[in-house]
Formats: sequence, structure tokens, C-alpha cells
Amino acid sequence: MKQQNTAVIVIPTYNEADNIGKMIEYLNTKTFPNIVAKKGDLTQNWDMKILVVDGNSPDGTGKVVEKEAKKYNNTFLLTETSKDGIGAAYLKGFKYAIDKLNADFVFEFDGDFQHPPETIPLMLKAIEEGYDYVIGSRKIKGGSNPKGWGFKRVFFSEFGGFVARFIMFFPFKNFFKVTDPTTGLKVTRVKGFVDKMDLDWKGDRLLTKSFGYKLQLLFETLKMGAKFKEVPLNFHVRNAGESKIEAKTAKDIFRVAILLRWYDDFTQKFLKFGTVGFIGFIINAIFLNLFSTFLNKPWPWTFSAEIAIISNFTLNNLWTFRSQQIFGPSRLIKKFFQFNLSSAGAIVIQTIFGTLAEYLFGPGNKTLYLAVIIVFLVLPYNWTMYNLVIWKNKKK
Ligand code: GDD
Ligand code: MN
Repeated sequence: MKQQNTAVIVIPTYNEADNIGKMIEYLNTKTFPNIVAKKGDLTQNWDMKILVVDGNSPDGTGKVVEKEAKKYNNTFLLTETSKDGIGAAYLKGFKYAIDKLNADFVFEFDGDFQHPPETIPLMLKAIEEGYDYVIGSRKIKGGSNPKGWGFKRVFFSEFGGFVARFIMFFPFKNFFKVTDPTTGLKVTRVKGFVDKMDLDWKGDRLLTKSFGYKLQLLFETLKMGAKFKEVPLNFHVRNAGESKIEAKTAKDIFRVAILLRWYDDFTQKFLKFGTVGFIGFIINAIFLNLFSTFLNKPWPWTFSAEIAIISNFTLNNLWTFRSQQIFGPSRLIKKFFQFNLSSAGAIVIQTIFGTLAEYLFGPGNKTLYLAVIIVFLVLPYNWTMYNLVIWKNKKK
């Protein structure tokens, strides 16, 4: 028996009366008939639907869609009470597609022919290969920007895309894998991804209801562990009408990228870890000086280090790794002992590499060696030990 999947092409529209009728006709008569098992490269049966989410356009876009919906029973119109932004329109559309149209996959697709309908079957093919999230990229081989774009537009698109990538993902693998973070052409698996998303567009769930939504959905979907692939997108010039992107959009997208990275669990944890380490350093220095007033060498070093270790363990347990907090006297004692061992490991690293540096480059720049060793060796070592050993997530 062949598998039957439903894919819903969600198209948000605002004043697209001159485009949307043609788009629906094109999809239904030219694109969908080719999306058939055994035709082309596809092997599964696809039930293709169209959902237009119209921001109550004054130009009669809704009327055009209504007419098409009478003609094609796979074509649906969701009219918003007002223009709430493209991001809000997509969340409303996703919800409708899942609840009412049985969607297994949802497409994000523009109504103005800038996204070539011919890319849809290529994306479905990637889905059939097992990907959860397939996006059209203008930056990979075979993809392109419109021929008519001047230097300035290309520059802003390239530069903006790179900055967004950098802020959101550097230095992790998605920085290298996501070449076109601001693309608007995507398909996402519902099961395990869109159905786990908060689709309530009201309130502050979206960092922006405008074009920056795409960065947020991208970030969230990848965070959920979606198997992800890019296919080439030849981004065309608009067929008719005008772009709804406003001048402030670039700033908005930049803001969204920063907030996504800032509020990310990993970032928050890492910042807390750094803060705790810094507090530990200060405590170490204060007690070193204090103990030196009444204790003999080497004890001020030993005791001040241990106090810093106690501080680091306590603060990390109560704050940084709060979600994996260690409770109970026997667990605490065991883990505290482990933590001391791990800290001893850091001291060994510091000793070996500090001595080595002095041997190789001379004894002159001790403070520089120390800084380099801490940043590049001790911090990564501690971070790894804390995450993988001390506060390791208990797996079920
Ligand atoms: N319902 C609704 N509400 N639809 C909207 C709204 C809104 O507030 N704003 C825009 N749309 C619809 C448009 O009518 C169009 O069908 C689609 O969303 C894309 O909007 P455009 O105004 O055509 O955007 P663009 O062409 O400037 O931007 C495109 O390129 C960007 C990358 O450079 C889009 O594909 C973006 O998604 C993409 O990031
Ligand atoms: Mn457009």
C-alpha cells in the first residue's frame, strides 16, 4: 500500500488580487498534476492543498480566492479580521492546516510568484528522503537572486543573511549548514515539529509578527532537532503589486536574531557558568590575600582555592544547572567530591600547559599564558565536565 501524505501550501496574502488567482490556477493545473507517485522522482502519494491566509485585503484578494475555492475543492481561504503581520498569518495558517485540513506537511509560500512553484516537487522529494525541514536557499549552487536586483539590494541580502547566521548559530554546525536564514520558502513536518510549536500568535509568543518570524521558526525548528536540508531557490522578481516589507524590517530582523540567541538555553547557561567562574576567581583572590595575613605558605593557596571550588559548586548547582539540580546529602557529597576531582583536573591542565608555555616562549608573559590557557583550555574543559559528568542529564 502506498503512503498518503497531505501537504498544505500556506500562502499569506495582503493586496495580492492581481497575483493570487493566477497562483492558485498555476498550482492546481501545472504544479500539482506533476506531484504524482512514479511521475518524476516522487514515490509517495501526495494530497496537495492550498490555504490562503488573507489579511482582510482591501483590494479584493479574498473575493478572488473565494471564487477559486468554489472551483477547486483543495483550495481554502482563511480570512483574518485584520492585517496582523506575515508571521501571525503563518501561525494562524498552520493551526488551520493541522486542525481542519489534516496537514502532514506545511509549506510557507509567497503569493506573488517570487517562489517558483517548480521548487515544490523538489522539496517533497527531500521530504520523501526523510528530511523534516526543507528550505529554499538562494545562496547554494543552483539558487539565485533576481537578475534585476542592483548591487545595493544584493549586498543587503547577502550581508544581512550572513549577520543573522552568525548571530544565531556561530560557531555551531548550523552556522555552516544554514546558508539562507531569511528565505521565505520552506516545508516543515507537522508530526514532532509544527504540532509541538506554540501556534498562539497573540501575546508575546512571537518576537515579531512581521518578517523576522522566519528566523524564529527556523531557530525553533532546528532546536527541536529537525533533519534539515536546503534545495536551490531561484528567487524571481515580483509578478505584480508591491512588496510589503518596510524599511524598519532589517532592524527588526537583526533584533530578533539577537534575542533568539540571547534567550537560548545554551547561551543562558554558558553566561551563568562564566559569571560563576568569575565570582570564583574574585573569591579566590580575596581569600588568598586574607589568609596570607595569618597563615604560612602554601596554605593560603590551598584554602582559598577550596573556598572558590565550594562557591563554584554551590552557585552552579543553584543557578547555572538549576534544571539538573543535585539534591540530597549523599548525592551532594558524592557530586562535590567529583567536582573537586574535576577541578584538580583543571589544575593539572593549567600546570602542564603553563610550564610548557614558559619552556617554549620564555617566562616573560605569564599573565598572557594564563589567560590563553583559561579561555581555550580550562573553560572548555570545565564546561564539558560540568555538562557531561557533574550535572549530566539523567536519560530515561
Ligand atoms: N496575511 C498577510 N499579512 N500576508 C502578508 C502580510 C501580512 O501582514 N505581509 C506580507 N504578506 C504576504 C504578501 O502578500 C506575500 O504573499 C507574502 O506575504 C510575502 O510578502 P512580500 O511583501 O512579497 O515579501 P517580499 O517579497 O518583500 O519578501 C520575500 O523575500 C524575503 C527574502 O528576501 C518573502 O519571501 C520573505 O518571506 C523573504 O524572507
Ligand atoms: Mn514578495
